[in-house]
Amino acid sequence: MTVTAVAPSPAWSEDVLRLNAICPYYTMFPLEFPLQQLETFTGATRVLDPFCGRGTTLYAARLAGLPSVGIDINPVAAAIAQAKLVRVTPRAVIRLANKILQSSPRGEVPDGEFWQWCYEHETLRELVTLREALLKMATPTAAMLRAVVLGVLHGPQNKGVPSYLSNQMPRTYASKPAYAVKFWDKRNMQPVRIPVLDVIERRANRLLEASPLARGGNVYLGDAVQTLSGLRQRFDLVVTSPPYYGMRTYVADQWLRSWFLGGPPEVPYGTHGQIARQPSQDAFIQALADVWAATAHRCRRGARLAIRFGALPSARTNPEEMLLASLKEAKAGWVVKEVRPAGTPPKRTRQAEQFGKAGSAIDEIDLVAELTGVPR
Ligand SMILES: C[S@@+](CC[C@H](N)C(=O)[O-])C[C@H]1O[C@@H](n2cnc3c(N)ncnc32)[C@H](O)[C@@H]1O
Repeated sequence: MTVTAVAPSPAWSEDVLRLNAICPYYTMFPLEFPLQQLETFTGATRVLDPFCGRGTTLYAARLAGLPSVGIDINPVAAAIAQAKLVRVTPRAVIRLANKILQSSPRGEVPDGEFWQWCYEHETLRELVTLREALLKMATPTAAMLRAVVLGVLHGPQNKGVPSYLSNQMPRTYASKPAYAVKFWDKRNMQPVRIPVLDVIERRANRLLEASPLARGGNVYLGDAVQTLSGLRQRFDLVVTSPPYYGMRTYVADQWLRSWFLGGPPEVPYGTHGQIARQPSQDAFIQALADVWAATAHRCRRGARLAIRFGALPSARTNPEEMLLASLKEAKAGWVVKEVRPAGTPPKRTRQAEQFGKAGSAIDEIDLVAELTGVPR
């Protein structure tokens, strides 16, 4: 394993960046966004992302040599983000996976048509054993193995050695069971045996061979406001992206990954605590305001808050006005310094482009505010 000395730099090698791509996450922002903030806001000592998703901000902080804290209410997000703060060898991850898979099979194999089509039965048996064992483990190696498996749980079937464990499926989101079964059945696509350990081994070696030094920090699974009220640390840089307005499928689209983390073997209907599920636009603005206020209480005077935000076209609203209203409503001392269209970094897609054709029409904005007032 290569030890990489880190300093903020726009020219990170691809090897060092690989761990950030351990598992895709809907509406993740590109690493460039938090890296730009870290480059232009010198003097940051601890970084916060109260809506951390897959932990992009946390990884940028790690690259810049800073500790960070992330919060997310979605267990899939928290599990991926946790891996961004861990430094373990690929060997340790492979050894743990091997140890679990060598033990006697455990856990209940889910039943039904979807599962029979999605995974070959031996592959599913191995997956269930891993799931069951990892549910009870809290070590850094287990956190990394969990995220590695989440990243290979479903995806397209390639011609050469397999990279994913499932039958043909998108990588970014899990298809709904009825749709997936119809798709496989129509094409007579039977699942093939894919040895889980082989896939984990290839992936862990690739992701971790040059991972940067870990700089400490924590990921909390929970509501941003509640979690912030229980924190002690002070932050001077906050880089975040709240749920895009009108986007309501953060949990349902990740249902297979949620299952691997202990969720039910079907698409969950509840989306408890998701800010995106507010009954009205005003309620959404108020919910964001509460997060900005709670964030201010944990920040030093002079702290920077950088936000990327957007709204689905179907929501027919102006994300800039919504975001400004939420900061005003927070009454927490955040003074807006800059609002501009979200940058389109070279060779990388914008966050909104993941919403497909309709999504590319979204107005996405970047806002920067400074904590100049005294929080309530
Ligand atoms: C736009 S995504 C963040 C993506 C992130 N920037 C990344 O790169 O992956 C917004 C996140 O807010 C989370 N979220 C929604 N309601 C929340 C709440 N009440 N507290 C904490 N997180 C919440 C969602 O689960 C989602 O992961």
